[in-house]
Amino acid sequence: MASTQWTPDSWKSKPAEQQPVWPDMVELESAFKQLSALPPLVFAGEARLLTRALGEAAQGKAFLLQAGDCAESFSDFSADSIRDKLKVILQMAVVLQYSSGVPVVKVGRIAGQFAKPRSSPTENVDGTIIEAFRGHIVNDDARSAEARRPDPARMIAAYNQAAATLNLVRAFTRGGFADLSQVHTWNQQFVATSQEGERYESLAAEIDRALSFMRASGIDLRGEATLQQVDFYTSHEALLLPYEEALTRRDSLTGDYYDCSAHMLWIGERTRQLDGAHLEFLSGVHNPLGCKIGPTVTPAEAVEIAEKLNPEGVPGRITLISRMGTDKIKDALPPLVEATQASGIPVLWSCDPMHGNTFVAENGRKTRHFDSILAEVKSYFDVHESLGTWPGGIHIELTGDNVTECLGGAEEILPDHLDLRYESACDPRLNGRQSLDLAFEISELLRG
Ligand code: PEP
Ligand code: CO
Repeated sequence: MASTQWTPDSWKSKPAEQQPVWPDMVELESAFKQLSALPPLVFAGEARLLTRALGEAAQGKAFLLQAGDCAESFSDFSADSIRDKLKVILQMAVVLQYSSGVPVVKVGRIAGQFAKPRSSPTENVDGTIIEAFRGHIVNDDARSAEARRPDPARMIAAYNQAAATLNLVRAFTRGGFADLSQVHTWNQQFVATSQEGERYESLAAEIDRALSFMRASGIDLRGEATLQQVDFYTSHEALLLPYEEALTRRDSLTGDYYDCSAHMLWIGERTRQLDGAHLEFLSGVHNPLGCKIGPTVTPAEAVEIAEKLNPEGVPGRITLISRMGTDKIKDALPPLVEATQASGIPVLWSCDPMHGNTFVAENGRKTRHFDSILAEVKSYFDVHESLGTWPGGIHIELTGDNVTECLGGAEEILPDHLDLRYESACDPRLNGRQSLDLAFEISELLRG
């Protein structure tokens, strides 16, 4: 799978976009050494299981739900927020699985989603030019030169937060919380009283009835691990290459390299250069991979990306995440899907309806409208329907919290509401109600 001279550090011979300029290389080397000695966060065998599950999705037999924060934060980190995020994702998955009748593969943007690409490397604060915020794994978001100084020790802090997050996620998904008989308890208070919440309650009641029916038929559900435990995987953008390299380990079973910072890694829209460091690095690790694909990608480039990342044609190895924007998707996506189809490389298609629909509201807040997000998803389904291909999955920025970051939705968040509870460290996320609302809309599309 790797190019002939691939090594965990061969990316260094290629141009790497979006890397901080580290002010002290000795500090960087020391953090890298410490990270390299720390235990892996995930195991190669788990990454292989995810590749297999995504392979099913690539073949139309499963659906991918990838969701979580735009950027995890060092300051907003608590058991409650992890639990609530998990609740929303589990709710969405149940809604999608119930309507589609195929397994939903659950992948969080969680336990490592810290590094952010920026449109400008600097920011002007009252006439002073300071470095841009690149995510808490690099610098702090406070608007001062000192806060923005890239600090390699933050990579260790990010590792520790990812480890604690993953530990809780594993406990929740393995220890009974994700048991299908708990389907009612995932409905949070502020959601339960809403229209979407009520709709969810009645679906949960149907699941209860189905479970009771099976019990009454003598099927022992207590022994059924698949009903009590959930396979939940982690993912993040593999942006900060020293961090990813330091957590790359050789699997003792197969001898292959895996980036053990997460199960799945993706390449962002700004770092997907064919001859760049990010493609080089990810081409050599055996995790399932994603690559964001914006409206400027040509069909030939999409095929080259898929070839470079999946030369052996393993189903589930590569997910192309389309993020076109509502106005562009109808024209931009079909040639890409057709070209990858013609190439014969198995590709899982997924839709990120968030990043092509961001704009700045009058009060200066970055936002997205629920209607544009939904419109992009609908067009995405239309494109796949007309080409006879499977609309494989969805990639969403959300939180379980009751934030006011995206406009619209059933509760109709208005521009004036954006300042009420805008808590994102980066891009605007759907709140719990908007996420569930979207899941119901997608479930209709899947049923159709
Ligand atoms: C993101 O997923 O947060 C992101 C920056 O996306 P993109 O690379 O598609 O712009
Ligand atoms: Co984002």
